[in-house]
Amino acid sequence: MNNPYCPVKGKIIDIKEETSNIKTFRLNLDKNISFKTGQFIELTVPGIGEAPFTPSSNPKIEDTMDVTIMKVGRVTEILHGLKPGDEIAVRGPYGMGYPLKEFEGKEILIVGGGVGLAPLRSLILALLNDRKKYKKLVVKYGSRTPKDIVYKDLLREWANNKDMELEITVDAGDETWKGNVGLITTLIKRDMGVDVKNSVAIVCGPPIMMKFSTFKLIDIGYEPRHIYLSMEKNMSCGIGKCGHCRIGPYYACKDGPVFTYDKISGLHGIWE
Ligand SMILES: Cc1cc2nc3c(=O)[nH]c(=O)nc-3n(C[C@H](O)[C@H](O)[C@H](O)COP(=O)(O)OP(=O)(O)OC[C@H]3O[C@@H](n4cnc5c(N)ncnc54)[C@H](O)[C@@H]3O)c2cc1C
Ligand code: FES
Repeated sequence: MNNPYCPVKGKIIDIKEETSNIKTFRLNLDKNISFKTGQFIELTVPGIGEAPFTPSSNPKIEDTMDVTIMKVGRVTEILHGLKPGDEIAVRGPYGMGYPLKEFEGKEILIVGGGVGLAPLRSLILALLNDRKKYKKLVVKYGSRTPKDIVYKDLLREWANNKDMELEITVDAGDETWKGNVGLITTLIKRDMGVDVKNSVAIVCGPPIMMKFSTFKLIDIGYEPRHIYLSMEKNMSCGIGKCGHCRIGPYYACKDGPVFTYDKISGLHGIWE
């Protein structure tokens, strides 16, 4: 019988320092794992432990997988100390991911905060793979300071990409910053050029950012069923067995981690 906890071994082949506490790791696995954008994996550091992450790479690329990881605690601290050539293991992918089929023919608004741009990077790359299927692609990204902005090279590329619109803001600027200053919610406006009645909004970031972005989206006319939230709840098994990730009647690992707001609105602890 297949053991659902059995990971695939692999190696880190490249590490990119995004900010002082965020790195992107490129992994090469002994057996390719294909994933749908928005699904997550459990990444193991042998002998230490595992943690869930959403691949940040283009799902079309199968021989490598990128994960962008913020250093916040025990496992992520050790991951940040690893070098190219070091061994890791991956199990998954798990969860439902983004329902790309439902986005076809729509204007897509993507709202990311901080390291929340990681799963959205994979989503944006997947949308660009099939750009003609979507009416418009608008990306809003907020970061605490200019130094905390991830994927700086890619964002420069996207800023010049005629297939999408990108706007960035920082909570607090510095002497180098000439762009927008203000919370991400200041970029979500009625006059931002998106037809909200034919649009879906996809939000990922820290809970407080997701909360106020969702409220602003509703304020400008989005229906809760058209707002997609990535719920990064505490997870353990990743496969609907342990109950760690419960949100009301749902298991975030199995039924999510992507939920529309109408499903989870009012449930206990969604913004924690
Ligand atoms: C489905 C899913 C996808 C995820 N994708 C990503 C991803 O792509 N990139 C990424 O960096 N993280 C992601 N996370 C979060 C990541 O799993 C945690 O940061 C990680 O498990 C922390 O493990 P640790 O052992 O280092 O920290 P622990 O030792 O378990 O925790 C240390 C402390 O950090 C706090 N903490 C935990 N997570 C976070 C967080 N996200 N932000 C701030 N503080 C936190 C805890 O409350 C605790 O106080 C995802 C989580 C889920 C559930
Ligand atoms: S993580 Fe175990 S049930 Fe979801």
